[in-house]
Amino acid sequence: MLTFLHISDTHISSDPAYKMPASADELPHPNRGTEALLTAIQRLPFAFDFILHTGDVCADPTEADCLCARELLLRFPAPMFLLAGNHDSGALLRQVLHDGERLHVLGDSQRAIKGCRLVTLDTNGEGDVHAPVMERGRIEAFQKRLDAADSPTIVAAHHPLIRTGVPWIDDEMRLQNGEEIQRLLARRRQRIAGFFHGHIHQAMDSYADGLLHVSCQSTWSNLAGYPGLTRPEADSCTPGGFNLVMLRGGTTFVRRYSLPRLPGQLH
Ligand SMILES: [Fe+2]
Repeated sequence: MLTFLHISDTHISSDPAYKMPASADELPHPNRGTEALLTAIQRLPFAFDFILHTGDVCADPTEADCLCARELLLRFPAPMFLLAGNHDSGALLRQVLHDGERLHVLGDSQRAIKGCRLVTLDTNGEGDVHAPVMERGRIEAFQKRLDAADSPTIVAAHHPLIRTGVPWIDDEMRLQNGEEIQRLLARRRQRIAGFFHGHIHQAMDSYADGLLHVSCQSTWSNLAGYPGLTRPEADSCTPGGFNLVMLRGGTTFVRRYSLPRLPGQLH
């Protein structure tokens, strides 16, 4: 039995004027989204084992943003496992946030948690790459980590792996050779509890080759995804939110939680 919260794309910023290019103009500062997330999580009437953050912890890969993120994230009431996103510097996150107790910054890694395994993949390229390609050696290392896990396995990365039918996501936001990872996962599908990711700033579930893929929306700025969409488009009607994930007897349950409306959000 494992219970965790999935959060993503907080884009915490030390710049009071920060705006993401594709965001709606009227959106609040991203730190307000993280504060709303903290309040919502503090009020949850149940216990959970950890929080999984699937990347874009910070708005920019700077020490100032990392320090701001550390100050906010240390207030959360559970250990947090964090992946770097394309807006982050993995090295800076490790240097500033990682303490091995409350905040764990993970790259290509695997660890046992309460009879399950968390296997993570750093899908980022050099710099701010929205649709990276993963090198063969790192895919082979990922396969070895998967094979070392003989228990129910949660797999997590920042970028989505599989095609979604939305051209903008498939061509500009997806790990471009994600199908290779998907084939490795599909061959071990009976052990894979799910693949959890962020990056696309929208709540989306996919089911392919017997595998569940779960994307968590951003905490403050969400983007649209529909057939034929070829460029980023703000979705100011979708609230910030997070996922509650429960692994119970071979079944994965995912519940969506929405955050209250922030000033400037339309929903
Ligand atoms: Fe993001």
